[in-house]
Amino acid sequence: MRKKIAITGAGGYIGSILVQRLLENDFSIKAVDMFFFGDAPLSRLRAHPSLELVRQDIRSIEPELFEDCDCVIDLAALSNDPSGDLDPELTRSINERGRMRTAAAAERAGVRRYLFASSCAVYGAGLEMNLSEEAPLRPLTVYAQTCARAEEAVLARNGAHFTTAALRNATVFGLSPRMRFDLVVNQMTLNAHESGRITVAGDGTQWRPLVHVRDVAEAFLLALGAPRQAIGGQAFNIGAENRQVIDIARSVKRAVATPSLITFAPGGPDRRDYHVAFGKAERTFGFVADRTIDEAVAEIARAIRAKRLTDTPTCHTVRWYRDLLSRPGQGLRLPDLVPVEARLPIAATA
Ligand SMILES: NC(=O)c1ccc[n+]([C@@H]2O[C@H](COP(=O)([O-])OP(=O)(O)OC[C@H]3O[C@@H](n4cnc5c(N)ncnc54)[C@H](O)[C@@H]3O)[C@@H](O)[C@H]2O)c1
Repeated sequence: MRKKIAITGAGGYIGSILVQRLLENDFSIKAVDMFFFGDAPLSRLRAHPSLELVRQDIRSIEPELFEDCDCVIDLAALSNDPSGDLDPELTRSINERGRMRTAAAAERAGVRRYLFASSCAVYGAGLEMNLSEEAPLRPLTVYAQTCARAEEAVLARNGAHFTTAALRNATVFGLSPRMRFDLVVNQMTLNAHESGRITVAGDGTQWRPLVHVRDVAEAFLLALGAPRQAIGGQAFNIGAENRQVIDIARSVKRAVATPSLITFAPGGPDRRDYHVAFGKAERTFGFVADRTIDEAVAEIARAIRAKRLTDTPTCHTVRWYRDLLSRPGQGLRLPDLVPVEARLPIAATA
């Protein structure tokens, strides 16, 4: 029988690529999302017989949702630093308590494996190069703090019947049906194309690990199949290469057809600065990223020129969430519910 995977945040930038990749690999998918960016990113797959779409907030998820699932991949979150700063308490309710609730519900439902989409942002301002997964975490933002706390809670649940692992993703780039132009490579590509200017925040010497969105999907696919003992209770850095932000700008400048000028944004320095090692994921489950920034820049620029990709408000995560928060009834503000753990065990309720 096909394995069934629930993916929370399935309608997002990574989720909409991952759903397609897992369907191609003969998995059945339960795509769980509030679809804050709409459900268009999954529209071309909607008729697929192995795909089920469920509109559900992770803050009110119940174990019953996962009872027919073998694995859960947890991607739902307010997905970057500026969005996390809009309303820190809201961010904690989704990114920390919502994700912990999802893990608790999955374990209770008898799900066998739980993969958590964490972020290399947990390293904050790294003091060394080639940070391994054992390096101390110094999260600088609310977003990064919630990643670190949720990750710790999820990994602590690892046990003989419930395997948990965290993939600490580098900053992602590349084309996706839910396009994000707030991610550094994608943003620089759009700006170069539209205005002939590439803006660098701070002095550009800060390091960023990077990875293509299709390689992230590959990493989740490999982690789904990895032996339980090899990955259980552990975190893995997922990335292709580390670059200084000024160097990313130079790559984009070379790769786009439009002649462009690199400029520096006024304002304080960007304190986020981390250079990460990727060897553990390769040694443990054979993950090696193979898509480059240059390929992605060329692909995005081609899609813009061919008008297959347009810059819409949903492509800018923080602006879109700010707009949703200004309009009542958009589903973002919800009261916290009783935690799954606080309910009676399923046997005792019978
Ligand atoms: N994109 C990156 O560069 C990157 C890097 C590191 C880690 N990550 C992590 O990967 C995950 C996915 O990122 P993404 O880039 O696809 O983000 P995204 O914003 O495109 O997708 C997140 C999805 O979660 C959904 N969502 C948000 N709150 C929800 C809630 N309360 N209930 C149900 N659904 C909800 C949104 O509707 C959206 O579809 C996030 O956890 C993010 O923190 C992303």
